[in-house]
Amino acid sequence: MFRDLDKLRAYYADAPEDIRLEDIDLERVPSHVSIIMDGNGRWATARGLDRSQGHVAGVDSLREAVTTSVRLGLDVLSVYAFSTENWRRPQREVDLLMHLFATTLVNELPLFHQENVRLRFFGDLTALPEQTRLVFQRGLDETADHTGMVFALAVNYGSRAEIARAARIVAERVAAGEISPNEVDESLLEKNLYTAGLPDPDLLIRTSGELRLSNYLLWQLAYTEFYVTDTLWPDFSRWDFLRAIASFQGRSRRFGGVVTS
Ligand code: IPE
Ligand code: IPE
Ligand code: MG
Repeated sequence: MFRDLDKLRAYYADAPEDIRLEDIDLERVPSHVSIIMDGNGRWATARGLDRSQGHVAGVDSLREAVTTSVRLGLDVLSVYAFSTENWRRPQREVDLLMHLFATTLVNELPLFHQENVRLRFFGDLTALPEQTRLVFQRGLDETADHTGMVFALAVNYGSRAEIARAARIVAERVAAGEISPNEVDESLLEKNLYTAGLPDPDLLIRTSGELRLSNYLLWQLAYTEFYVTDTLWPDFSRWDFLRAIASFQGRSRRFGGVVTS
């Protein structure tokens, strides 16, 4: 993936004490980083603010994560923005989030154009309010011919629903006689997941210290490296991103085999 070294160095100029750009091997940055952006509510509550203010503050972190990913030359950044279970939240918070998704996307479209970012969504968008859905479609249309990093937003996403949906699509093709049951394999199921065509995440970051997946990418994370930080999402900076990548680069990925070198 294309990487502008001058821009990258300028972006990481003011290094804190514990981490510098030089600590990263730029030849081994992950291809796909995925983030469970968590802790917005706690960030707001700790400041005596409404939870919604945490979501608003989280948008700045997301913009920084997108820019950071482009600067580092990732192929894919994906983020968990709203789960199939998040509908259980108070209606007011759900409404605010849906509105925030739409306004944020419109506001960030110039960034996607400038950085050649292609947008993608994971999840069932049909259940979203019309305005949000229309803006999402506009984002897809306007970035469809971009050739740079893929930025995927998981909205109304649930991994179990995703796998069930893939199974249903495949079952329908079997029932229609298009394929036989013994052609159903991992690669066929994969082609019917929302992530079709993308590499599995190399690195999963979860903010706010929770040690669970919350129904996120259960299939795709089979051999992903996990990085959990106590930092709450609105505080997550480009330096935290670098710390996560440094940690990733210190891992030994074996994929079930043995390391020979
Ligand atoms: C993550 O922050 C954002 C969404 C799930 C939309 P939370 O809203 O879950 O924040 P906490 O976990 O309650 O602090
Ligand atoms: C996971 O966070 C979903 C998103 C970040 C969008 P939650 O805050 O909903 O997860 P739980 O409820 O703590 O597991
Ligand atoms: Mg949470």
